[in-house]
Amino acid sequence: MNIIFLGAPGSGKGTQAAMLAKELVSPAISTGEVLRKEVERQSEIGKLAKSYMNSGQLVPDEVVVGIIKGRIAEPDCQKGFILDGFPRNMNQAIVLDEMLSSLNKKIEMVFNFEVGEEILIKRISGRFSCKGCGAVYNRYFKLPVKEGVCDNCGSDDFESRSDDNEATVKNRLKVYRESTFELIGYYEKKNLLLSVDAVKSAPLVFGELKEVASKFSQTN
Ligand code: AP5
Repeated sequence: MNIIFLGAPGSGKGTQAAMLAKELVSPAISTGEVLRKEVERQSEIGKLAKSYMNSGQLVPDEVVVGIIKGRIAEPDCQKGFILDGFPRNMNQAIVLDEMLSSLNKKIEMVFNFEVGEEILIKRISGRFSCKGCGAVYNRYFKLPVKEGVCDNCGSDDFESRSDDNEATVKNRLKVYRESTFELIGYYEKKNLLLSVDAVKSAPLVFGELKEVASKFSQTN
């Protein structure tokens, strides 16, 4: 099953993509995650992407399209994939359709994560992650069971994202409204859009996604 997760920054796409990917045994592909790794290893792509990411702007289309093109051609994507954070504007959506059509594939489902801005800001400002394994936590909504120790790998080393500061977050939300929001209508017209009440707790949201995905698998 080929799925897109659409939604504003902080709406929970990454959290749910990791869980649904495990459930469906398909990779979750986060352009943000790929770009952060490129920035960390100071590659050419990373050097170019860094200033866009730190100011909350979209990285140029040719860079992210190149990343997705290479990634979805890999063998682990043959049975399906979850795109988390791509496409993010109309041009990326159109290029994705063309790319998939040339591979005899198509998008089968688009989950749109709906959350109001006040909650988004709290989620982003409270986010931190384990430096060891990348597990994501939240100061307000999801602390590790044992304070200061990662539930997943036992590390006591945590970090915050450099783009999770107030000024950048405001810009990321502005970019979402100006460039990404219109994709809701694009996928609605294609009859692919499913709205998700992403204000609910993460386990409840996951339950809904799992149910929809399982029904789809049974009927296709
Ligand atoms: P990216 O990494 O994609 O960031 P984003 O879209 O801004 O999304 P986030 O990662 O902030 O949020 P999320 O929805 O994944 O939420 P999460 O699950 O972590 O992109 C970063 C940058 O890279 C962009 O600004 C851009 O520069 C560049 N980029 C990426 N893709 C691009 C593209 N296609 N084109 C151009 N540039 C691109 O959850 C957030 C927090 O809330 C966590 O702490 C979590 O624990 C908590 N939480 C999650 N779900 C719940 C829940 N249901 N209840 C309570 N808390 C919850």
